[in-house]
Amino acid sequence: MKLTSRSVSLVPIVATASAAALGAVLVVSAPASAATTLGAAAAQSGRYFGTAVAAGKLNDQTYVNILNTEFNMVTAENEMKWDATEPNRGQFTYSGGDRVLNQAVSNGKRVRGHALLWHQQEPGWAQRMEGSDLRQAMMNHVTQVATHYKGKIYAWDVVNEAFADGGSGGRRDSNLQRTGNDWIEAAFRAARAADPAAKLCYNDYNTDSINPKSTGIYNMVRDFKSRGVPIDCVGFQAHLTNTAPSDYQANLQRFANLGVEVQITELDISGSNQANAYGAVTRACMAVRACAGITVWGIRDTDSWRTGQNPLLFTGSGAKKAAYNSVLDALNAGGTGPTTTTTTTSNDPGPGGCTASVSLNQWDGGFVATVKVTAGSRALNGWRVTTTLSNGTVTSSWSSNRSGTSGTVTFTNVDYNGAVPAGQSTEFGFQGTGSGSGLNPTCAAT
Ligand code: G3I
Repeated sequence: MKLTSRSVSLVPIVATASAAALGAVLVVSAPASAATTLGAAAAQSGRYFGTAVAAGKLNDQTYVNILNTEFNMVTAENEMKWDATEPNRGQFTYSGGDRVLNQAVSNGKRVRGHALLWHQQEPGWAQRMEGSDLRQAMMNHVTQVATHYKGKIYAWDVVNEAFADGGSGGRRDSNLQRTGNDWIEAAFRAARAADPAAKLCYNDYNTDSINPKSTGIYNMVRDFKSRGVPIDCVGFQAHLTNTAPSDYQANLQRFANLGVEVQITELDISGSNQANAYGAVTRACMAVRACAGITVWGIRDTDSWRTGQNPLLFTGSGAKKAAYNSVLDALNAGGTGPTTTTTTTSNDPGPGGCTASVSLNQWDGGFVATVKVTAGSRALNGWRVTTTLSNGTVTSSWSSNRSGTSGTVTFTNVDYNGAVPAGQSTEFGFQGTGSGSGLNPTCAAT
């Protein structure tokens, strides 16, 4: 049996006796020594540090230098939105989005997709639509854009800002909402079908504390989880003034406890207490295992949508601000890392066989496992993955058919991911309560 290992971080490496017996390598990420860039500092705990990028600024050398040095995740600030990608019904243009994505990918960064459906920046033709015709156009938009970027997006903001401000805790009125309350789950299902590998997020603002709006979203996520609607993450935009709410971390944690990843997606903070507030937000993310990373909404103060408020980490001329040092120090101080473990088993597929590896995100009381199925030297027409789950219970799974919830659990391909070319991979996932430790997936061709 040939032993292979893939890992996200190599410090420290822990291989248990039983894992070794299965031909598995277990890698646990942990903070290392102080790093000198935001991306590298975040990566020490398995997190990312990202920024919004505007395609029109990719010719600005100061901008690009900071982007390439400091960040390892990118969000297109406007270029993947509905008005940009489908200016006329059924006519898709991806030039701006592709430009941002290609610059990121060719410099080793990952990309968050933003945003498939949002009541703002709808193209004019969609603004004038209602009812079932609009619903059809919405779902087609989700499917087309997620398909165009299939396999290239770390996480999509599938739906953006659908909840109302104020005390109602309910949905915001919009032509999207008026197509029926189920539009959000329909969008998530369409996005999952189009790009099963992307994490699917709900993203909103004014959700930085435990308040009626964030609680409305919390209730939706809990409902989606209980009914198997495919949602993987919640984005907290975090457009803040002077301070982070005292219950910022507690709010992130309550969402994490539902079994979703939490991401800080559009961070910017104005005011004289800016540096402290940036530190507080960063420490809160570091203290929540399921907080996967932070994205700031622009690079230099002059790049910000908050004109004149100077809410970012770099001055207009590209110098690091005190807020930058606060963030870097908080990232370097470490924290409760998402316990990301990568286990590889079944290492000698032989002709016609396959391997399975699992990446596990574990937090107090729950986990998400992402399993990669890789074909051997011959293409697969179908596959079956079997694993033991000793101390946990599967509550939902995606991109596979499942048999069992604990003990021995078996997953088989669904229609669209059974055919895997030689040497290529496909992914499925599952989540559960309890512990996902000790997963030992083995793969067989069917
Ligand atoms: O590109 C055109 C330009 O050709 C034209 O001359 C100019 C005239 O106004 O407009 C330019 O487009 C502007 C675009 O930004 C690019 O600069 C739009 O008018 C302007 O509305 C748009 O603003 C964006 C805003 O979303 C739209 O609501 C901001 O850049 C962007 O930072 C902001 O981002 C949002 C997130 O997507 C969701 N959360 C809130 C966040 C801040 O509002």
